[in-house]
Amino acid sequence: MGLLAAIGFIVIAYFVIQFLLWTLLDCDIELFFASKLGKPISSLRGKVVWITGASSGIGRELAKVLAVHGVKLVLSARNLRELELTKQECLSLSKGGLRAEDVLVIPLDMLKFAFHQDSFNRVISHFRALDILVNNAGRSQRAEWNKIDINVDRELFELDVFSVIHLSRLAVTYFEQNSIKGQLAVTSSTAGLIGAPNSASYTGAKHALHGYFESLRNEKPEINVNIYCPGPTVSNFLQEAFVENPGLKYNQPVQPTDKRMTTERCAYLYAVLLANNKNLCWSGIFPINWIAYIGCYYPNIKKLLLAIVGTRRLAKIRDGRNNPDPSQV
Ligand SMILES: NC(=O)c1ccc[n+]([C@@H]2O[C@H](COP(=O)([O-])OP(=O)(O)OC[C@H]3O[C@@H](n4cnc5c(N)ncnc54)[C@H](OP(=O)(O)O)[C@@H]3O)[C@@H](O)[C@H]2O)c1
Repeated sequence: MGLLAAIGFIVIAYFVIQFLLWTLLDCDIELFFASKLGKPISSLRGKVVWITGASSGIGRELAKVLAVHGVKLVLSARNLRELELTKQECLSLSKGGLRAEDVLVIPLDMLKFAFHQDSFNRVISHFRALDILVNNAGRSQRAEWNKIDINVDRELFELDVFSVIHLSRLAVTYFEQNSIKGQLAVTSSTAGLIGAPNSASYTGAKHALHGYFESLRNEKPEINVNIYCPGPTVSNFLQEAFVENPGLKYNQPVQPTDKRMTTERCAYLYAVLLANNKNLCWSGIFPINWIAYIGCYYPNIKKLLLAIVGTRRLAKIRDGRNNPDPSQV
């Protein structure tokens, strides 16, 4: 075989293998290898991990996965009853590995910035340490781009961006003052990688998080930043999503027939990312990997494909079913 033919063969094989992996895997290739060959989740045993948005969905399941491996937890959200339930589930899953005092419940409305410092102080006075802050609390959106009230943009950014930045600044200051190589995790979304239709404010918010934390990463390399971008996942997400007018919710509960990743799988992959201290990873069932890879690395091909697939079908892929037009809700 001539040299050119050999190079051609290698290039074609590279793309064929890559496309196969994009199709078969439910996460990016790096996260997949970390889950098979990387550090086990149990390497986090004994660390203190604070999860916001731990009363339901991804945050709650992440707490449960970590509890199985003896990770000490701080659980925050607004709903105290659900937080206590998460705590009980964590304790029972840990099979004696965690005592009641190893799981601290701190009710916190992330929008009440004035309480962030007090909550932070409670974590430190209880555990005398914080190793990882998982910024997970957030709400999505379904709304038509030009009909979004500017107050919805503001409300969504307050929760999904500014509250995250405010709490993270406290963590960074604490890490610095105590010379700790701490970890800051952020639950972003596929919408943090590409623009999701009918979610302009949400897409903007998740992209903003990438900007803020990328800047932190380059400014303070001693702080570890882990950004996780789940694709469609089972949770209360669609029920709670912002719409175009303030004060309203999309109110579409997830159905068992929806094509979404299970919360358990999403949380497991999140825990793998944390254990392996990865910069940026994503998850999602087919074709989310394709969308993420093409969106990130081949923006011009993405434009072409979008013209073929169409916005409606993209919205259907995202919601795992045909959802009502946001303006009709
Ligand atoms: N599910 C998906 O398809 C998906 C995809 C990509 C990214 N995500 C991201 O995953 C994260 C978690 O969402 P989820 O899917 O698990 O949805 P979820 O089940 O609705 O959970 C959202 C969590 O955020 C908390 N939260 C909402 N507003 C809050 C506030 N003002 N203060 C404190 N906590 C608040 C909720 O608790 P309380 O109501 O008790 O306060 C709840 O624990 C979000 O950042 C979201 O952007 C989800």
